[in-house]
Amino acid sequence: MQKNISWIALSLLILVSGISAMTNEINVYSHRHYDSDRILFSRFTKETGIKINVIKGSADQLIQRLISEGKNSPADVLLTVDSGRLYRAKEAGILQPVESNILKRNVPEVMRDPEGFWYGMTVRARVIVYSKERVKPAELSTYEDLAKPYWKGRIVARSSSNIYNQSLMASIIAANGSDKALVWAQGVRENMARAPRGSDRDQARAVASGLADVAIMNTYYLGILANSSDVADREVAKKVDVFFPNQNGRGAHINVSGGGITASSKNKNSAIKFLEFLTSEKSQKTFANVNYEYPLKIETNRSKLLNSWGSFKADTMNLSILGTKNLEAVKLFDIAGWE
Ligand SMILES: [Fe+2]
Repeated sequence: MQKNISWIALSLLILVSGISAMTNEINVYSHRHYDSDRILFSRFTKETGIKINVIKGSADQLIQRLISEGKNSPADVLLTVDSGRLYRAKEAGILQPVESNILKRNVPEVMRDPEGFWYGMTVRARVIVYSKERVKPAELSTYEDLAKPYWKGRIVARSSSNIYNQSLMASIIAANGSDKALVWAQGVRENMARAPRGSDRDQARAVASGLADVAIMNTYYLGILANSSDVADREVAKKVDVFFPNQNGRGAHINVSGGGITASSKNKNSAIKFLEFLTSEKSQKTFANVNYEYPLKIETNRSKLLNSWGSFKADTMNLSILGTKNLEAVKLFDIAGWE
């Protein structure tokens, strides 16, 4: 009897230590490369004791890796930017649906997958950035307006292979229909001061240097430029300002970075806890202060820099639509000649 009891105790001990080893560590595949994330990951470990192993790569690499690893993937969480990509990950079968009341409370409905396969984590606004010297805000109005001859030779934007532009295009298809979206892309392409190239930051640099008057880009890159250790980049940020388009209509185009629990996750509970932590009010403040992204609840933003750009009306379209219209967006860009 004595012997049996000690066997049971030993088995229990092995089981318990096995469980704790399983839940005290999660593997995160992340496409994000920001200081805000490093700060939050270590805060999470400090608060919960759950260690985070981060594996970095481009979004396409990580999604591809998850597909080829299949059920044997060690990954628990995929973090990436753009709901277009999160949609791709869902479609590829590498995520699993998650039910969490905390996530439902933290993440507005339009910023998560309707079936719970992914949840938004931060919000980004893709807007018009303009030269303070050569453009008055009153001259600006909508994304649609940028296709008019008034802007001939005055616009810069990055390539259409970039998912941020594909998602903007998807939102225009959803709002105006395919035919009008195509004409829009053709018009904007014709108005460009140079063939599309470079990063979002390069578009701001082109406007500051006088090569163009307006750029299509995400706001947080202006925050990064304004706080750069490079004097030239800080000067760029001083010469431009943010304009939120379509304020009398559907609102400015927004997108999210976000994450989902992988289909292969062996530490689902810890992984859910991690997403709940990232979407919590306290973490949301860190994203806004360190990476200049908007919190999921945009109106709760208290960051000084973000407030200096003013409050704005955001498009309320469910962001999963950006994923469903992605292929069409790519196709229409191609027909429009927007490289
Ligand atoms: Fe970005």
